[in-house]
Amino acid sequence: MNVEKLKKMKGKEKIVMVTAYDAPSARIAQDAGIDIILVGDSLGNNVLGYENTIPVTMEEMLIHVAAVRRGAPKAFVVADMPFLSYQPSLEKAIENAGRFLKVGANAVKIEGGEEFGDVVQRLVESGIPVMGHIGLTPQFVNRFGGYRVQGKTEKSREYLLRSARELEKRGAFAIVLEMVVEEVAKEITEGISIPTIGIGSGRFCDGQVLVWHDLLGLNPDFAPRFSKRYANLYETILKALQEFKKEVKEGIFPSEEHVFTDKSQGGVSS
Ligand code: KIV
Repeated sequence: MNVEKLKKMKGKEKIVMVTAYDAPSARIAQDAGIDIILVGDSLGNNVLGYENTIPVTMEEMLIHVAAVRRGAPKAFVVADMPFLSYQPSLEKAIENAGRFLKVGANAVKIEGGEEFGDVVQRLVESGIPVMGHIGLTPQFVNRFGGYRVQGKTEKSREYLLRSARELEKRGAFAIVLEMVVEEVAKEITEGISIPTIGIGSGRFCDGQVLVWHDLLGLNPDFAPRFSKRYANLYETILKALQEFKKEVKEGIFPSEEHVFTDKSQGGVSS
C-alpha cells in the first residue's frame, strides 16, 4: 500500500483502517489485510491509562510506532502527531513528523481544520505524507467543551467543508472525519477528490476506522454507539486468567507435559 494507491481507492473500494499500538497487534492487523494501521494518540486512553489524549508525548508515540513497524513490516503505518508536537511552529512540526518517518511510519496524521493548512503544506513539501483529521478532534476537547457530534449547525457545516477543501488543497492524501453528522460527511466526501475515512460519521465515507480496543471489546466500560464490537476479548481474557488461577491453586497446572526432566528431549517450544 502507498499514498497513491490509497487515493485511487476513492469511489472504487472502501478503505479499512484500524488502530494498533504494539507489535503483536500490528502483526494481526497486517495478516488480516487491513489497508492502514494508525498508531493513534488514543494510545493515551487505551494503553497508557490516561484520561484522554492530551498527556501523550512524542517519546511515548515513537516507542509504539517503532513497535508497530517491527510487528508489521509490510503494512502502511500512519503515526498520530500528539498534542503540542505540531501546533507551536512549522519547524517543530517538521522535526517531529520526521522523527516518525525515521522509526518506520509511512505518513503522519494531524488533528485540525483550515487553520492547519500551512502545517500540512510544509510537511508535504518536506516529503512527509499527511492525513488530516477534522470533526471531533480530541486534542481540542477543552476548546469544544466535551466530545460532541460536529456539523449540526450551519456554521459548523461550513467550517468542516472549508477545512476539508483547504486540507486537500494543501496536499493531504486523506482526511479522517470523526463524529460528523452523516449528511455533512457525505457532502464532504462528494466534494473533495481525496478519500475520507470516517469514525462515527456514517455510511458514505470512503473508508472506516475503528479503535482496536472498541472493535475487539477489550474495555467493558466503553461501548460507543458508533463503534461495533466484533469480539468480546475482555470476557475471553478474563475467563482464561480465572482458569489459569484455578489450575495453579488446585495443582493442575503445570502437568507432566509442561515440565522438563533430565530425560526431556528438544527445546522450549512444543
Ligand atoms: O487516535 C486515534 O485513535 C484516532 C482515531 C479515532 C481516528 O485519531
